[in-house]
Amino acid sequence: MRDETKCLHAGYRPQNAEPRVMPIVQSITYVYDSTEEVAAVFDDPMKSLIYSRFGNPTVMAVERKIADLEGGVGALCTTSGQAATMMSILNICSAGDSIISTPEIYGGSINLLSFTLKKLGIECIYVSQDANDEEFHAAFRPNTKAVFGETLANPALTVLDIERFARIAHEHHVPLIVDNTFATPILCKPFEFGADIVVHSTSKYMDGHALQVGGVIVDSGNFDWNSGNFLDITSPDESYHGISYTETYGKSAYIIKARMQLMRDFGVYPAAHSAFLLNIGLETLAVRMKQYCENAIQVARYLESSDCVESIIYPGLESSPFYGLAQKYLKGASGVISFVLKGGKENAIRFMNALQLASNEVHVADIRTCVLHPASETHRQLTDGQLQAAGIHPGMIRLSVGLENVDDIIEDLNIGFNAVNRMA
Ligand SMILES: Cc1ncc(COP(=O)(O)O)c(C=O)c1O
Repeated sequence: MRDETKCLHAGYRPQNAEPRVMPIVQSITYVYDSTEEVAAVFDDPMKSLIYSRFGNPTVMAVERKIADLEGGVGALCTTSGQAATMMSILNICSAGDSIISTPEIYGGSINLLSFTLKKLGIECIYVSQDANDEEFHAAFRPNTKAVFGETLANPALTVLDIERFARIAHEHHVPLIVDNTFATPILCKPFEFGADIVVHSTSKYMDGHALQVGGVIVDSGNFDWNSGNFLDITSPDESYHGISYTETYGKSAYIIKARMQLMRDFGVYPAAHSAFLLNIGLETLAVRMKQYCENAIQVARYLESSDCVESIIYPGLESSPFYGLAQKYLKGASGVISFVLKGGKENAIRFMNALQLASNEVHVADIRTCVLHPASETHRQLTDGQLQAAGIHPGMIRLSVGLENVDDIIEDLNIGFNAVNRMA
């Protein structure tokens, strides 16, 4: 199946006389005929379902769909994108370990990596995407367990050179974890370029309708955990009858460990109803992504031609320093555009307040056009240095181009520019 077809049919194929639409199985638990059967499922929870803290038929149908779209061996849904990022790292890192990340990532991920994981004893070393191979190699320590980056960074919109990052990570026998939220598997499939684990905030394009917060981790099944570096996956888990995930589950070791061990303990599993809503978003993902990209390139060209705009970041524009990487890795540059207005923060706020169609909200990648001022909203906890490293100018506006008629979106931006010009 191709992506458009997978969006509609992967994960759930009804058999004779079964419901056409994936049903919402809203049940906490599952009934068995005997104690022996329950015991057998405890011995191997992948055999069937025990409890909806770590497995539910509706959620698992969505997991199969996303795994199929990304080309992975398995997926695990979480209650938020933050939970997915956290679990993707904690699944292989313990106190005393370190990870390497690019600083061009979502502000919430910077907080998680720099502060909360640090409290748990996991250090994050930042290496800019501009770093050469030598500088990158120099950041590795004997305790480094993973490299992390975003395909299309929020909001810096830098494009990760996935092949280079994967190659260097693999030379040090650690996996590359890629946050593929903005690209979605429709615009980029990081596994095809060597990434090992993918995470998403499904709250963005996958849901698409601003209905519910969610996340997902996807395992490529390609990483070799047997370097001696990942004893937590390869050696017996005393919290699970001494199971070795690699010996028992082979290529699916990472994602099954995340479900059986971490999801069991953290319990950040979504409800069936949330997965049902997410699936409705996923059904149109391929069609929507094409239209977001078509609208956004027109809006980006319009912004580029405006006298009010100091700079614009959209890797779909030929003038972007990331155009080459975007051509290599992306089938479109998504609907998100970042730009800086002349006159800095004051004009950015004046412009945003004047808009009538685009809403000012803490969200992105919705079907409706929306705007946000990262320096005073999503990234306000970052220091000036962190803002600069994350590629965020104080006057930067993040515009998430929606699926309205593009002429209406451009007319709305014009209203904003007029408000700025009136004050000039
Ligand atoms: C790229 C990226 N990753 C992760 C997250 C966190 O996701 P959530 O808000 O679903 O927890 C976000 C949220 O904006 C994001 O943009």
